[in-house]
Amino acid sequence: MNILVLNGPNINMLGIREPGIYSKQTFQDLLQLLEDTAQKEGITLEQYQSNHEGSLVDKIQAAYGKFDGIVINPAAYTHTSVAILDALKAVAIPAVEVHISNVDAREPFRQISYPGLYCEKTIKGQGLDGYRQAIVYLKEKYG
Ligand code: DQA
Repeated sequence: MNILVLNGPNINMLGIREPGIYSKQTFQDLLQLLEDTAQKEGITLEQYQSNHEGSLVDKIQAAYGKFDGIVINPAAYTHTSVAILDALKAVAIPAVEVHISNVDAREPFRQISYPGLYCEKTIKGQGLDGYRQAIVYLKEKYG
């Protein structure tokens, strides 16, 4: 099984960025967790982070025919991006949305998720472990 993990803007700033909300765990810690999870679950995984909406759309389009599942944290684009939603619908690859923080308990503008309208599951408020949970979910269902 081949899984694509996508991260949106500022996720590369983990560890520096608002540690009270996102914890002190770094982006490097996330990359390590993804590598360890892939090895443990016996899957192949590619990770891509971008601060640019169009680059994320390009990556989703390029996933067509290559990946069996997508784990996506669209970050701030969660709350604005119809383009990411449409790209996910276009390729129709099973997808799980992850948020490190518990967006439900945050500002009203974080309560809407456009990509989440396509994703079959959303994991929020679990810290970096949410990515592992999303991968395990996709593997158990589609692997
Ligand atoms: C986030 C939540 C978003 O509201 C925010 O814009 C992010 C990160 C999360 O992982 O908790 O950048 O997606």
